[in-house]
Amino acid sequence: MAGAERSDPRIRAMQADITTLAVDAIVNAANSSLLGGGGVDGAIHRAAGPGLLEECRKLRSLGGCKTGDAKLTGGYNLPAAHVIHTVGPVWQGGGKGEAELLASCYRRCFEIADAQGFTTLAFPAISTGVYGYPWEPAAEIAVAETRAALERHAGIACVTFTLFGEDMLIIYRRLLGEI
Ligand code: AR6
Repeated sequence: MAGAERSDPRIRAMQADITTLAVDAIVNAANSSLLGGGGVDGAIHRAAGPGLLEECRKLRSLGGCKTGDAKLTGGYNLPAAHVIHTVGPVWQGGGKGEAELLASCYRRCFEIADAQGFTTLAFPAISTGVYGYPWEPAAEIAVAETRAALERHAGIACVTFTLFGEDMLIIYRRLLGEI
């Protein structure tokens, strides 16, 4: 059972607004246009300011970002130095490759972070808002992919799952073996 696994001190879950975190990179749950939207994407663009949108427009003209992939930008007015924009799958019942696409989001974010030499990263619960992914299976993927990534990428020192509500926090804390 995942919840019975020993907790890894490099992984933590907290209830917070991800735009307030001073880490090497926060992850944005974006859409493939990369031009902003609601939810955490809207909050990140509001806090980062117009420089972020300008950089995202350039990425958009180069093809945007496919579902399951990720792209790096600066953090502009955010306390975080960078933003890794990833596009999670829209939940369509589970038979359209959603789990593999969501896992790919986490893997690509870790690949970028490792290539850049980032040591601290914060993730929101990708796809669990507007995109409708059920919370528990989404959290299982987030935790499993993070554990696997930390085996591969020894330079990453701290991964923070930054969750908006207490119900989501409890799911993560249980999967992390904290409760
Ligand atoms: N900090 C941390 N978590 C947050 C914040 C925040 N400031 N704001 C929302 N959440 P969503 P998605 C949580 O909808 O499902 C956008 O319009 C929220 O409670 O932001 O991947 C994009 O442009 C939820 O648990 O992302 C796309 O079109 C989680 O973040 C689409 O939504 C993700 O919810 C992406 O949908």
